[in-house]
Amino acid sequence: MPTLTTTEPTRTTASHRKASRKSPSIAPLLNAHQRPPPLKQPLLEKSPDPVTTHKPQQPIMPSSPPFLQSIYTWFLSLAMSFLLNILRLGPVPKHVAFVMDGNRRFAKRKGVEVSRGHAEGADKLEETLDWCLKLGVKTVSVYAFSTENFARNKEKEVDPIMKLCTEKFEKFAANSDLVRKHGIAVRVHGRLNLLSQPVLKAASLATKMTVANTNATLNVLMPYTSREEIAYAIKTLVRGVEDGRLEVDDITEEVLEQCFWTGGLNARGKEEEEEGVMGGPLDICVRTSGEVRFSDFMLWQASSTCQIHFLKVYWPDFTFWHMLPALLQYQASYSYLKKERKRRQGDAGFVLNQGFMAQDGAANGCDEKLQLKVMRVKSFLDEVRKQRLNEAVAYA
Ligand code: FPP
Repeated sequence: MPTLTTTEPTRTTASHRKASRKSPSIAPLLNAHQRPPPLKQPLLEKSPDPVTTHKPQQPIMPSSPPFLQSIYTWFLSLAMSFLLNILRLGPVPKHVAFVMDGNRRFAKRKGVEVSRGHAEGADKLEETLDWCLKLGVKTVSVYAFSTENFARNKEKEVDPIMKLCTEKFEKFAANSDLVRKHGIAVRVHGRLNLLSQPVLKAASLATKMTVANTNATLNVLMPYTSREEIAYAIKTLVRGVEDGRLEVDDITEEVLEQCFWTGGLNARGKEEEEEGVMGGPLDICVRTSGEVRFSDFMLWQASSTCQIHFLKVYWPDFTFWHMLPALLQYQASYSYLKKERKRRQGDAGFVLNQGFMAQDGAANGCDEKLQLKVMRVKSFLDEVRKQRLNEAVAYA
């Protein structure tokens, strides 16, 4: 079961309010004594923002002279390095994802332009990436732009976000300190055809220039929804069956997963195959801003053993200290999660794993048909990955 960490009620969203306005009232059908008591607050009124009503967990230094502030900051970064080294001794999550939410509310709270909130959010991503990779996380996936975000104001919000992403991608493509230090391969996934030429070109360039990096992966999901990703994978498989490269019986959960935009290179999902890990199941998913929803983000990847944390902090305010409880919880439950993942893999009857078992047992006259099946599936998936990469670098 995924672990849910939250204690607060969800914020009432516009769609919730619209839905509740539309739903017909049953009150006239009930007798007076059956009717619920009148609400003290109107139902449609917006509930309070879970972040502003929540006391921050972040260590806060009360206003003090600048030299004390810098000593405090220095001490915190020292403590963080120390803790990262300790945490590295235990099991470290391989794939961590962030729904970077709360940039607009952060900007509003500060009284600055919305675009400034997103800019601070983009810088926060680089900072977060740095300590995640220092910790030894192999893949970080971030929700940078939902396909539905195109409905936002174009001039005031969509264009500034796209400009910001273009700048960051160009920076990554130029082998920024961060990319070089951690050997990061940048991948941008989603309905890329919806992106404008400059951002598409920059994304393509970032992918091309970092493709040889194998230490870690940054998956930037934009414009993305999980359901679109699943539909894309299904179409890929259907084409494979139509043109005879695949048989219907070859399709398993694992094969479908490999056809996702974020589909892993770790084809066998084996523990030791760390190099080149790109997607695969999530170990930890964090959503900031106190919203308790997935918003169509990596639903499949979060479906089994992912630990999910909804944090009451706006993304630009997010720090290592907010993440620490999640990391400790991961380490504490690691052996259980590992067992659970193995059990699920067993249940799903993975073709590729079975195939490798068959290969190991080939000397004992193991099933030849199964081996052919494995070869067919492997070569299909290799083609899919190559094609996906070619498409990703085509605009550079
Ligand atoms: C959600 O907060 C945030 C976004 C829609 C944009 C996030 C994008 C970035 C931080 C840029 C990332 C850059 C790269 C290179 C990946 P919101 O606007 O929904 O805020 P709210 O919840 O307060 O309304």
